[in-house]
Amino acid sequence: MAGDFDISSVRGLLALDSRGNPTIKAVVATEGGGLGVALAPSGASRGEKEAVELRDGGRKWRGKGVSLALARLEHVVAPRLVGVDSRRQSYIDYMLEAIDGRGNFSFLGGNVATAVSIAVAKAAADTAGIPLYTYLGSPATPVLPTPLMNIINGGAHAGNDLDIQEFMIVPTGFDSFTEALRASVEVYQSLKSILKEKYGALAVNVGDEGGFAPPMKTTREALDALINAIKAAGYEPGSDIALGLDVAASQLYRSDKGVYSLEGKELEPARLLDFYESLADEYPIVYLEDPFSENDPQSFAETTKALGSRVLIVGDDLYCTNPRLLSQLKSLKPTNGALLKVNQVGTLTRALEYARIAAFNGMRVIVSHRSGDTEDPFIADLAVALASGLIKTGAPARSERTAKYNRLLEIEYENEGVARYAGWDPFPARRH
Ligand code: PGA
Ligand code: ZN
Repeated sequence: MAGDFDISSVRGLLALDSRGNPTIKAVVATEGGGLGVALAPSGASRGEKEAVELRDGGRKWRGKGVSLALARLEHVVAPRLVGVDSRRQSYIDYMLEAIDGRGNFSFLGGNVATAVSIAVAKAAADTAGIPLYTYLGSPATPVLPTPLMNIINGGAHAGNDLDIQEFMIVPTGFDSFTEALRASVEVYQSLKSILKEKYGALAVNVGDEGGFAPPMKTTREALDALINAIKAAGYEPGSDIALGLDVAASQLYRSDKGVYSLEGKELEPARLLDFYESLADEYPIVYLEDPFSENDPQSFAETTKALGSRVLIVGDDLYCTNPRLLSQLKSLKPTNGALLKVNQVGTLTRALEYARIAAFNGMRVIVSHRSGDTEDPFIADLAVALASGLIKTGAPARSERTAKYNRLLEIEYENEGVARYAGWDPFPARRH
């Protein structure tokens, strides 16, 4: 006899991501009437070791079609999942890996695996009638994460000359997520006025993650604009609102010369570290992601040694959310923070395994969106479930970003009087 949690159907639908590219929507239903719907996001500055997205190639959708991926979902995945208890998340995820058989989802599609894996968890939570964050983590006292808000976009996410990909504000000095979000929105809007006045109306066009993409050339120019916006909104840089950077340095690395191309200069790794140290002295920077190429864990380790007592040094492309890669690298102590994007590894089970290994090794986990994202608020629940206290989901603008913030507002509201806001907790040291 079928139980309530048994999967009754698995369907795949075409959907669009925030860049207008096709993606996979997986819809999983259970015998008990539970429903899980999940959409796969898509990155632009991808790590080399990420799970592979399955795309059709050819002319339609300019090569980005997902009909083959949808066919695999329908004909290969669905028949094996029907009848399986939706709570058997790891069994299902290992089955997805076994069906793929290639170790990187190049047959099944990382986009298929991600959407199905997340939809299964949602269907089980829905069948149980409990919130997804409770199902995934059962936190007694939910911790609302401190957001790392990318409000100036550069690099591969914007059509300007900024080499560094993301300039973030970090609202650390607040008592609740709602207050932190309010202050961040005020800073975002004051930045908009400042940029408009200084650079003209074109400067407030936004990049892929909802941050502005002004015609700036240097890192300091962008950081100064953030400081001015924080002050103009009536907050204290450092104590109320700190700063973060995602360099996405693999994009700046020139492998033929072994140097990083930054602001018209070619910097050797040691000089690039000097640059980060001087930035950390001049600005209240508490977060630094991918400061070096993903193939140079040693330079990450040196950065952590130099700055790790006051800055969270975070590996994104370095680890690709891959538990095996993290296990191989961890003895080097490359970072004190580990970014988590489920679609980099393809399944929820592997992402959770990664989070456990990171936590066991004293690293903070940052649950993250992708630059091509969707209306699926899943990562908000995942961040609360993991209680790691950090989420990276872009500017407080564009619905694929605000979907996550709106879900966090809802979770805080539902847990009024019980929930805690992470604030400064996840950071190695309080600045100022
Ligand atoms: P991506 O960028 O989603 O384009 O890979 C996000 C990041 O580098 O953190
Ligand atoms: Zn990154």
